[in-house]
Amino acid sequence: MSKKVLLSGIKPTGKLHIANYFGAMKQFVNLANEYESYIFIADYHALNFIKNKEEMKQNITDVLLDYLAVGLDPEKVTIFKQSDISEHTELTWIFDTITTMPYLELAHAYKDARAKNKEINVGTFNYPMLMAADILLYNPEVVPVGQDQKQHVEYARDTAQKFNRIFGETFKLPKEIIMENTANIPGTDGRKMSKSYGNTIPLFAEYEEIKKCVMGIVTDSSGGIPQNVYAIHKLFRSEEELKKIYEEKSGKYKELKEALIEDIEKFIAPLRAKRKEFEKDIPKALAILKAGGEKAKIVAKAKMEEVKEKIGVNVY
Ligand code: AMP
Ligand code: TRP
Repeated sequence: MSKKVLLSGIKPTGKLHIANYFGAMKQFVNLANEYESYIFIADYHALNFIKNKEEMKQNITDVLLDYLAVGLDPEKVTIFKQSDISEHTELTWIFDTITTMPYLELAHAYKDARAKNKEINVGTFNYPMLMAADILLYNPEVVPVGQDQKQHVEYARDTAQKFNRIFGETFKLPKEIIMENTANIPGTDGRKMSKSYGNTIPLFAEYEEIKKCVMGIVTDSSGGIPQNVYAIHKLFRSEEELKKIYEEKSGKYKELKEALIEDIEKFIAPLRAKRKEFEKDIPKALAILKAGGEKAKIVAKAKMEEVKEKIGVNVY
């Protein structure tokens, strides 16, 4: 029996952080044996944010190296980039024609941008349709993501249902996998850890950078436990172990931060070393990405043919 399919992706918009890892990437690695996995770099999604050729190239290479360094094995996982598979944007158009504006106006990302009076490009407005196409082309059973992407997977599911209703059964309905304990990891200021808030701890940070980030964690002076420190520490140690440490060092915020620095360093050091190995041969890493694209293309192309047949544009 063939394995069920898993698909997920990350936007190459800047350095990945520990919440990307614990919220999403860790699941990619852990589930790779159980599922036939497609993990991609969402470069066309990133184009909404990055308008600089060199930066885009660098970011794509960085995410690729990050994927390899956290242990995604190209023998088991198809690693590719969105822009290599033109079917993603092609299917987006078809979804656009069955989707209403008011429905897309409900998207959190769009509502946030509006609330902030930001200039909103069509790409941002249409983001959920490109993401629906990313997902539905590969018939995945599951899509592992952090909590902030739940609504986007719902859009994909709704869009699959709508297409199936209009044109006949074509797409499987995907389901998100969200880890309860790591759905919404806070950053150094207590808000959601996010590239755009500048409150992250980079996944491949050097020791000095880890130290700087942790020392910068915002603490309040009420009670013995600095909540923002504890919330991050929970990612690296069991609550049982932490209970002991936090009781012993109750109220000693500096010492607690030092303990956290050591735990993060212990976790990151081997990842950093692996990444440095991959960095030595970037052409080899890029060849992996290219080969992954060729594999993904076959699947996406077949699905797109099916879609074209269903909508009635295949006249030859
Ligand atoms: P992004 O960097 O926005 O492309 O996010 C990549 C993945 O990391 C997505 O699955 C996000 O849901 C997840 N993620 C990002 N920030 C967090 C966070 N603070 N807590 C948990 N997961 C997160
Ligand atoms: N929107 C996702 C994020 O910001 C990235 C993404 C794009 C994605 N397409 C996807 C995630 C398809 C899962 C499946 O994190």
